[in-house]
Amino acid sequence: MTKIAVLGLGAMGRSIALALSRNGHSLTVWNRTHAKAQALASDRIVASPTVARTIAPAELVIVCVLDQTAAGQIAGDFPDMSGKVVVNLTNGTPDEAIGFARRLDRKNARLLSGGIMAVPPIMGTSDALILYSGDQHAYEDHLPTLMALGSAQFMGDDLRLAPLNDLALLAGMYGVFSGAAHAFAMFRASGRPAGELAPLLKQWLGAMIETLDEMAAQVDSGDHVTGVVSNLAMQAIALNNIVAASRDLGVGPALMVPMQQLVAARVDKGHGREDISGVVVELLDAPAV
Ligand SMILES: NC(=O)c1ccc[n+]([C@@H]2O[C@H](COP(=O)([O-])OP(=O)(O)OC[C@H]3O[C@@H](n4cnc5c(N)ncnc54)[C@H](OP(=O)(O)O)[C@@H]3O)[C@@H](O)[C@H]2O)c1
Repeated sequence: MTKIAVLGLGAMGRSIALALSRNGHSLTVWNRTHAKAQALASDRIVASPTVARTIAPAELVIVCVLDQTAAGQIAGDFPDMSGKVVVNLTNGTPDEAIGFARRLDRKNARLLSGGIMAVPPIMGTSDALILYSGDQHAYEDHLPTLMALGSAQFMGDDLRLAPLNDLALLAGMYGVFSGAAHAFAMFRASGRPAGELAPLLKQWLGAMIETLDEMAAQVDSGDHVTGVVSNLAMQAIALNNIVAASRDLGVGPALMVPMQQLVAARVDKGHGREDISGVVVELLDAPAV
């Protein structure tokens, strides 16, 4: 069986180590705070006090720490990594994935970036989706082992692709949570339980999510006006009404105002006949401050 090292034993790293161990793998583990590694020690898990000793016997080295600064510090201390595959499952930006690779320059590691689309309790189940990109041969060589963590999807040989997909998916998730948070706040401010809205909100969002393929096609074609049934000029008024009603209820409009302003800006520029996809153009044109 593959010899594995897991570096970082926070909520996620611990779940990764346990999922691998449950699958019959033996591993060495390291954590900055050694007590967390010791707490995990078992007949299959050896807790090591140093990174060097942890990775020495391993063919597959998994890094999962808080951020890419920490991951980079750890990788900076790696010795020659010939024969080893490093999988960086730490959340970060696409550019940070490249920065991590630079830390491994001339250390002869084969490298994969990862994006974990899961929470710790479901690691090791098929509901946990982990995205990978980078060295495809390394991915294929270790796929049977990586499957112990959950479903695996290879996004391409560019190390930036896994974090790009990860962050884009999280952006979509935070959009949904932002809208839901605002909707629930409006309900609570009206003296009604959020639970009363939740079933209808789920049904509505489910229907709206079905339109995403069409929206993506509009974005890719650049045609935001053909066949539009809900134009931006009309939607601008709905957004104004959401913000006004929220203020009337004493609900802070902070989550809704950015969308209100983007749509208003698009309409002001003469694009009121466009679909909501026109907002993407506005984002692409906006300065990335
Ligand atoms: N938890 C989730 O739901 C979830 C879901 C998807 C992806 N992720 C990603 O998984 C990664 C780990 O998250 P987590 O939930 O395990 O976080 P966590 O529970 O807060 O654990 C953070 C880990 O990073 C280590 N660490 C922090 N700074 C360090 C440094 N400078 N040098 C070395 N180690 C350092 C911590 O070590 P100490 O124990 O010594 O503090 C700990 O092992 C993150 O990139 C996160 O975005 C998490």
